[in-house]
Amino acid sequence: MTEIVVTDADGLRTIRIDRPDKKNALTRAMYAAMGEALREAATSPAVRAVFITGGAACFTSGNDVADFKARGDQQADVPSPAREFLAALRACPKPVVAAVAGYAIGIGTTLLLHCDFVYAADTAVFRMPFVDLGLCPEGGSSLVVPQRGGQLLANELLMLAEAFTPETAVRAGIANAVVQLTELFPFAEGIARKLAAKPPAALATTKRLLRQAEEARLSAHMTEEFAQFSALLRGPEAAEAVAAFQEKRKPDFTRFLAAE
Ligand code: COA
Repeated sequence: MTEIVVTDADGLRTIRIDRPDKKNALTRAMYAAMGEALREAATSPAVRAVFITGGAACFTSGNDVADFKARGDQQADVPSPAREFLAALRACPKPVVAAVAGYAIGIGTTLLLHCDFVYAADTAVFRMPFVDLGLCPEGGSSLVVPQRGGQLLANELLMLAEAFTPETAVRAGIANAVVQLTELFPFAEGIARKLAAKPPAALATTKRLLRQAEEARLSAHMTEEFAQFSALLRGPEAAEAVAAFQEKRKPDFTRFLAAE
C-alpha cells in the first residue's frame, strides 16, 4: 500500500502523505519513502522544487504511536528512518515548500523547521507533544524554536506542549503565513512553481548560504536530541504514554518520581 504518493510535474516534485484513516500518522516505511523521494529530488536534474502536503484534511498526526515501540526496540546506534528522513530534508539543495491543513503534530510540526517555506491553512492545528509522551523534543526543535520564536514562547510550546494555532505558528517562526483553506494549495503550489522557475544554481547557492552558519551547531544539537529521545523512548514514562494512547485513556505519570 502506498501511503506516500510522489508525483513529478513541470519541475515540481510533490510528496503527499496519504493515510487518512490514521490521520496521516507516519510509520517507519513512510519515513523511508519520504527520505527516498527527497534524496532522489536532490540529485534529479528534472526536479527544481519540492512540495510537501498531507492534503486538505490533515497534514500528519506525527509518528505512528504504535510504531514508537519498534523505534524504541531498535539499536541506538542505527539511524532510524525518521532520522534519515530529516537528514534528507535538511540536505535537500532544492527549495522545499510545505502546505499544512488540519493537524501537524510532533514531527508534523518539527519537520516544518527544515522546509524553506511553510504555509498554514486557517484550519491548521500544531502541537509538539513530546513531553506528554514521556519524550523530549526532536528534529532540532529545542534549538530552532527558541532561536526563531524566543525562549518564553518555546517554553510554552515545548514544555507545556499544548496545541497551538496557525497564527502562533507564524509568531514562533514555524510558518510563513496563514492562508484560507480554500486558497492554501493554489497559493503554496504557486510559490513552489515560482521557485522552480528561478535559476537553479543561484537558488541552491542562496539556500546553502542562508543555512550554512548554523549548520554545524544544528547537527550537533540534533545528535544530542536523538540520543536523549532514544533513551526516553525505552523508558517507563513513554511506555505509560503509549499504553494510554492505545487504551484510549489519560496517562498517569504520578508514580514517576521527580528524582533529579
Ligand atoms: N499514531 C497512530 N495512530 C494515530 C495517530 C498516531 N500518531 N494519530 C491518530 N491515530 C489514529 C487513532 O488511533 C484513530 O485510529 P482508530 O480509528 O483505529 O481508533 C484514528 O487515527 C483517528 O484518530 P482520532 O484520535 O480518533 O482523531 P481525532 O480527530 O479525535 O484526533 C489527533 C486527532 C491527531 C488529535 C489525535 O489522534 C492524536 O492526538 N493523535 C496522536 C498524536 C501524537 O501524539 N503523535 C505523536 C507525536 S510525537
